[in-house]
Amino acid sequence: MKKPDPNCLVIFGASGDLTKRKLVPALFTLYIAGLLPDNFSILGISRTQLTDEEFRQNMHSALEEFSERKPLDTKKIVSFTHHLYYLAINTMNSAEYGKVAERLKEIEEKEKTHHNYVFYLATPPKLYQVIPGALAKHNLNKETEGWRRIVVEKPFGTDAESAHKLNKYLLKYYQEHQIYRIDHYLGKETVQNLLVFRFSNAIFEPLWNRSYVDYVEVTSSENIGVEGRGGYYDASGAVCDMLQNHLLQLVALIAMEPPAAIDADSVRNEVVKVLQCLRPLSREKLTKNMVLGQYTDAVVDKKKVPAYRDEEGVPDNSRTETYVALKVHIDNWRWNGVPFYIRTGKRLPIRLTEVVIHFKQTPHPVFGVNPPDNKLVIRIQPNEGILIKFGLKEPGAGFNSKVAKMEFHYADMAHEYILTAYERLLLDCMLGDATLYSRADTVETCWKFVQPILEYRTDTGNLYQPPGNLYGYPAQSWGPVQAVEMLQRDKRAWRNPHSDTPEGYDNI
Ligand code: BG6
Repeated sequence: MKKPDPNCLVIFGASGDLTKRKLVPALFTLYIAGLLPDNFSILGISRTQLTDEEFRQNMHSALEEFSERKPLDTKKIVSFTHHLYYLAINTMNSAEYGKVAERLKEIEEKEKTHHNYVFYLATPPKLYQVIPGALAKHNLNKETEGWRRIVVEKPFGTDAESAHKLNKYLLKYYQEHQIYRIDHYLGKETVQNLLVFRFSNAIFEPLWNRSYVDYVEVTSSENIGVEGRGGYYDASGAVCDMLQNHLLQLVALIAMEPPAAIDADSVRNEVVKVLQCLRPLSREKLTKNMVLGQYTDAVVDKKKVPAYRDEEGVPDNSRTETYVALKVHIDNWRWNGVPFYIRTGKRLPIRLTEVVIHFKQTPHPVFGVNPPDNKLVIRIQPNEGILIKFGLKEPGAGFNSKVAKMEFHYADMAHEYILTAYERLLLDCMLGDATLYSRADTVETCWKFVQPILEYRTDTGNLYQPPGNLYGYPAQSWGPVQAVEMLQRDKRAWRNPHSDTPEGYDNI
């Protein structure tokens, strides 16, 4: 596999959670897999006063706790942490960024990283303009000597207008090819597999359209609650936290046209094209085609699970949704008339992300009144795999049909370690491949699409006004009953697998 150019990865927010839980463990995995260049370094930056040595020690402990590559080799951790450096500055103050330039020069002399820098913003969003702007003031955006890239974490804006402003600001100082907007769903192996599955097989693609598909389901359920992130989550809700980014990206990969090539421009051109075809949500349609929910307390396995409003950092009277189900249409040649039902929520029974393609029934039920459903289930996580259901003759007398299934488990094919989302995305960024990162127009199109929901939520005369439209659901259930009814009205149903174990892969 190709190795990236020598480079220095600068992490802003180096004393935060993301750095220790995801970024440094991901970099360590790349290091032991031999996927980092020989000359590389990591400069951690935040407000906390630490020496290089203290930062190395902290990251050593973080690796012991969070690295996925167990058992750990202490010698390797030590040799890896030798490449780590630290700098404390007040990141809000652009005058202090001269110190960043100086420190980089110093590291450059020692590590010979060819002036190639990735600036990773693992910080609160209020710094998403400050840091890139301050770096630019010190010419750290200019690609005269080496390449310069910035990685921006989500949330990229809080609505259509702020996302547009942020793009405009960044594009003042950086070119699009230097900006990497991360959506970790795109880093998931099985999400990428959607592209390969669709566009490397001639047997599915001919059926992948309105002539053969009845409806599509996209589910991303989590069994956890807000896990101490109540403050952030309450201002965001399921719509901004999951739907606007991860789920719309999934819809785009399921629905897009074949790209001319697998590269950043070709793939992202098709992604944005299909997102632009999402039928705009109108206020009237939202009351019929969307269900918002919030989990209430419940007793599960004799243990009390708290209500969302009782979670730390969440106001007692919060009307933020922890669940959203939405029916969307893609108004284009391929998908006209095929509804996509998408849902996501916290405190649902299991952790699961999957796509279900429900094919139309045969034109005439030759073998009885209830012909079997033809379904294709693409399991994104966990137990990644693919399941196809079809009708076969029931053994014995007569000609009754019965549903049979064929399953493929990704684990059976993966003999090598599969890179996690952050590992893959960090590597791609160092390689200069932005295919799995969101482009400015994609992010803005997604925000534009969800904007009517955001306006609805804050319009006190409407959606969030009691008694209606934010429905309670008991923790660890499949969400509000209204979401079930939404599909029943269309004579359709959600697929609710019973568990996330391989045996529970299917629920027939
Ligand atoms: C994050 C959200 O982007 O994705 C979290 O902020 C959510 O609230 C997480 O839990 C889900 O990611 P995954 O990879 O566990 O499906």
